[in-house]
Amino acid sequence: MTTRISLNGDIQPEAHISVFDHGFLFGDSVYEVVSTYKGRLCFVQEHLKRLLNSARAISLEIPLADDAMMREIEKTVEAAGNPESYIRIIVTRGVGEIDIDPESCTRPNVLIFVIHAMPYPKENYTHGIKVALVSIKRNPKEALNPGIKTGNYLNNVLAKMEARQVGAADALMLNPTGQLTECTTSNFFFVCDQRLMTPSLDCGILSGITREVVLRLARENGVLVEEGEWPPEILQNAEEAFITGTIKRVMPVTSLDGRPIGEGKPGPITKMMMRLYEDVLISL
Ligand code: PDD
Repeated sequence: MTTRISLNGDIQPEAHISVFDHGFLFGDSVYEVVSTYKGRLCFVQEHLKRLLNSARAISLEIPLADDAMMREIEKTVEAAGNPESYIRIIVTRGVGEIDIDPESCTRPNVLIFVIHAMPYPKENYTHGIKVALVSIKRNPKEALNPGIKTGNYLNNVLAKMEARQVGAADALMLNPTGQLTECTTSNFFFVCDQRLMTPSLDCGILSGITREVVLRLARENGVLVEEGEWPPEILQNAEEAFITGTIKRVMPVTSLDGRPIGEGKPGPITKMMMRLYEDVLISL
């Protein structure tokens, strides 16, 4: 159960960052969460690519090349020595003046957190979780594009609080034009007429790495897949639903706004995707 944090290459059990860092002051940072499976890093190249794309999108230069970043991740994971790791890589704008202009920030800070990964409760997978459709909207693409994984998650924090207030484990958000998007730290899938459906990237969502793998697995295994733009009413006809994310993997959703989805238990397509995704992790 060890925690190790690399701050610009210095690996310690704790790390401290200046209150003048613009990551702290303005959420001016980008990040990724990587998991391990049987101690091996999962989809780390895909995560590093998305980190680089996020950084580019906010004109932040990551001071480490991918191979150096990779070595630092491996060193930190090894120093922590946990059987399974939760790895959070954060690149902040760095220390500057208390002014929103990043011009004064000369050196980004690179943090790699490694903590012992705690699995979600088994019941989440056997029974599924409750999700609530919340009033907080996902940021529109034209504002802080949800496709960029920045450290500014207040939109999602507010959505999560709203869901918790009604006893749901997570929040499903709409975009400002009323289309389904995603949950607070995961992508959303549902099944209608045996088709696996998920909001398209155009709706303003993060292009999840788990989402991409699940879409590929579904297509390879003969499941009809649709990426599209839908209002929430379509979920009245949903037979199944699940969410995807690096740590959650494929997690069934069996209740929406207090009403069961389909039969109120993980359905056959959900179970199939859970199994196929697990098989991919085993083969990594
Ligand atoms: N979240 N959508 C959002 C808003 C997310 O924050 C995440 C990931 C996902 C799923 O992406 P992926 O499959 O690449 O993990 C979708 C991470 C796990 C987090 O912030 O903890």
